[in-house]
Amino acid sequence: MKAEFWLNKWESGEIAFHQESINESLQEHWPSVRAPAGGAVFVPLCGKSLDMRWLAEQGHPVVGLEVSALACDAFFDELEARPVIEEAGAFRCYSAGCYRILQGDFFTATATDLGEIAAFYDRAALVAMPPDLQPKYMRQLTSLLPPGSVGLINSLEYPPEVMEGPPFSIGETQLRELLGPRCRLSRLAAREINTEGTSLEQKGLVGLAETAYRVQIGD
Ligand SMILES: C[S@@+](CC[C@H](N)C(=O)[O-])C[C@H]1O[C@@H](n2cnc3c(N)ncnc32)[C@H](O)[C@@H]1O
Repeated sequence: MKAEFWLNKWESGEIAFHQESINESLQEHWPSVRAPAGGAVFVPLCGKSLDMRWLAEQGHPVVGLEVSALACDAFFDELEARPVIEEAGAFRCYSAGCYRILQGDFFTATATDLGEIAAFYDRAALVAMPPDLQPKYMRQLTSLLPPGSVGLINSLEYPPEVMEGPPFSIGETQLRELLGPRCRLSRLAAREINTEGTSLEQKGLVGLAETAYRVQIGD
């Protein structure tokens, strides 16, 4: 999926991936991630996710990264905050309170762009990547995170032949391969999701599992 695909989705308001409430898996499993208290959390491909508000409420500064300026504007509008917007290298940086959102291409980011990060949260980011881009995504994500940092990945599993993503199905074995031997992966949970009445049902998917993993980046 090229950035253009997602920019068009935001332009046309086709954002079925956006959740109007805080992700349940985040609330349930974040304590098991054991992120350092007060440590900054990186949210790659953040959209205008309300999950960032929840992370901030837990005391974490939040650093989001999103290619769509519409999504960044909407996040701060809905928060009723007026961000300071500055050009910062390849990115436009929106800051307000404990939030900093970098608007630009994830694949061009460096650890310096992000600043100090202690943890990460990936929901609908890895699974938004087609299989040929997943290794590049994971290499980039792990290169942006300091050794020893921890995070939560929410993934989806379904028979891949049933539907053409996004979202794409990623199982535990595949995730382990993508992360490589130096990262530690623990599967925290899997729960069945009913797709009835959703855009996924329209694409032919009748059921899927939402999975949650704790990841620790290797030294
Ligand atoms: C499926 S949505 C998930 C958004 C968010 N994580 C959520 O839970 O609502 C994927 C997001 O990634 C953004 N995106 C896709 N490719 C990107 C890239 N190369 N750099 C930065 N953002 C990107 C899209 O604009 C979109 O908002």
